[in-house]
Amino acid sequence: MNQDDLKALVGKKAVDWISDGMTIGLGTGSTVRYMVEALAEKIKKEHLTITGVVTSKETANLATSLGIPLKSVDEIDYIDLTIDGADEISSDFQGIKGGGAALLFEKIVAKNSKKNLWIVDQSKLTKDLGNFPLPVEVIPYGSEKIFERFEAQNFAPTFRTVEDGTKVKTDSENYIIDLHLKKIDDPFKLAKYLKQQIGVVEHGLFLDTVNTIIVGYPDGPKIFE
Ligand code: 5RP
Repeated sequence: MNQDDLKALVGKKAVDWISDGMTIGLGTGSTVRYMVEALAEKIKKEHLTITGVVTSKETANLATSLGIPLKSVDEIDYIDLTIDGADEISSDFQGIKGGGAALLFEKIVAKNSKKNLWIVDQSKLTKDLGNFPLPVEVIPYGSEKIFERFEAQNFAPTFRTVEDGTKVKTDSENYIIDLHLKKIDDPFKLAKYLKQQIGVVEHGLFLDTVNTIIVGYPDGPKIFE
């Protein structure tokens, strides 16, 4: 089984947590894509009434193309369950997200959810966070100044760019600065520091967020609760 097979495995498994009448937060990424496709099939087969709340334009396009009814987070009282991927999960179940540049909406949706379920292949599990570059969403104005501040902190920042070198813009028209930290000793302290920087919109540390994790292994999915 390759990595994509493991993503498909957990994506399809995750819809077991969804039942009739639920409002579901739909994350972003290649693993979530499998879940959204499986959800659309389940809705049709079992005649379910489900409302989706998306975390990106990418997922909105996919869900709409598959006929999943959507509402914005401001139109609902709460989300029953959000299913999302992750870039790194530490042994104490803290996470880094934002590899797909959707961290801001992902965090808003996660914070308004009664439960959060992450679906990952086994490669995403790690002892400590930080090997995966930590994404920080910043507003364009003053972003060079924030970048310099991150350099001074030895955070080894890079602006996320596309192939032609232009800076990636998020769904909210912001930039992403990736911090190449290698190892984050105290994720809570770092999260606090980042939130205090003027111009930082959000960071990719998802701390004390997840309730359930489904991990894809070649011999099947394993569930951590
Ligand atoms: C997007 C995310 C994704 O959930 C994360 O990058 C995992 O993606 P994938 O399932 O493609 O590996 O945080 O911002």
